[in-house]
Amino acid sequence: MAIAMKIAGHIAKSSWIRRMFEEGERLRREFGAGNVHDFTLGNPDVEPPEAFQRELLALARDPLPGMHRYMNNAGYVETRAAVAAKLSKDSGLAVGPEHVIMTCGAGGALNVVLKTILNPGEEVIILAPYFVEYRFYIDNHGGVPVEVWTDHETFQLDIDAIEKALTPKTRAIIICSPNNPTGVIYPEESLRQLGELLKDVRARNGRRVYVISDEPYARIAYDGKHVPNIFPLVESSVIVTSHSKDLALPGERIGYLAANPAMDTVMQFMEGAVFSNRVLGFVNAPALMQRLVAKLQDESVDIAEYQAKRDLLVRELGAMGFGMVRPDGAFYLFPKSPLADDVEFVTLAQKHHILLVPGAGFGAPGFFRIAYCVNKGIIERSLPAWSALAKEVGLKG
Ligand SMILES: Cc1ncc(COP(=O)(O)O)c(C=O)c1O
Repeated sequence: MAIAMKIAGHIAKSSWIRRMFEEGERLRREFGAGNVHDFTLGNPDVEPPEAFQRELLALARDPLPGMHRYMNNAGYVETRAAVAAKLSKDSGLAVGPEHVIMTCGAGGALNVVLKTILNPGEEVIILAPYFVEYRFYIDNHGGVPVEVWTDHETFQLDIDAIEKALTPKTRAIIICSPNNPTGVIYPEESLRQLGELLKDVRARNGRRVYVISDEPYARIAYDGKHVPNIFPLVESSVIVTSHSKDLALPGERIGYLAANPAMDTVMQFMEGAVFSNRVLGFVNAPALMQRLVAKLQDESVDIAEYQAKRDLLVRELGAMGFGMVRPDGAFYLFPKSPLADDVEFVTLAQKHHILLVPGAGFGAPGFFRIAYCVNKGIIERSLPAWSALAKEVGLKG
């Protein structure tokens, strides 16, 4: 075999993704892209905020000497200081540039953190439904993913279930709030309970279990809801995030990791993470983007636009009979599949030219995901097709 058996195995297991993608392409060719309602990708359709274009032009007009050269692997100190200032404000703790590493997106940051902390065979708890890449990222660094469900009705943290899943090999728990794929935000109280649980574990047997807080959607919260900062609530915590969603820059691969300054071993962790960033081949985050996001820490895309799309879909699909948790953030809906088999439901939706991702793709069969980071016109045009689909599966429609 030309490729590693493990990679071939991963590809085979997710072959349905390719099948669905190919079917979407076929539908687009046959009926025209305008007649296919694609809700599969978390790829924002909005443009970055105006301030981004302004800063980009200013930098191009007035380039800094040496601005394309190698730099400290952690990134420019000015950029890390800007991120640290924002995190200090959000957390109430003294976060400094020495606690921040600029990374190639949140995906890069997750890989850096996992490489830094995992010994072979150590376990990382992931909370279903979850972003499926977690499994591969954990495997990249010799770890073992351990799946624990959130509450089946609310998708909130189930602290008892997490406690039961802890073993002497547990090294970390990955959380994501606002969540992909459910859109829920974990409230301060449940994060505090998680922090207390892990503090107890450490006090009893000296084991540190990290919480890796994956938060690329942290600035996308609705109805004035607050996304609690993890640092004051969980001592052994690391934030991994990016500007892929809040500044609509996923193709630019710019993000960061930040370690809780309250961790007694924080500088040892940071030394390890800087090394991992280097040897994973990222070397450093893109230079140009670092210059720009340093100036944009208080900016975000228009959240009201996403909220209007959420409201429209929740209202219309709810009236048709689809059952779902109303999301407080991110740009996803995760309704119950009206058919027991979510892959069958998603296949049926394709016949109505609606492209979706089955819950199985998030470790959560029985649901499906709608990514509504699409043009509002696409949502509006899709409603008759949704109605016909709903009727076909026995809902009101
Ligand atoms: C929950 C979650 N984590 C991480 C990522 C990866 O983000 P990035 O593009 O910044 O690597 C995504 C992207 O969709 C995501 O949804």
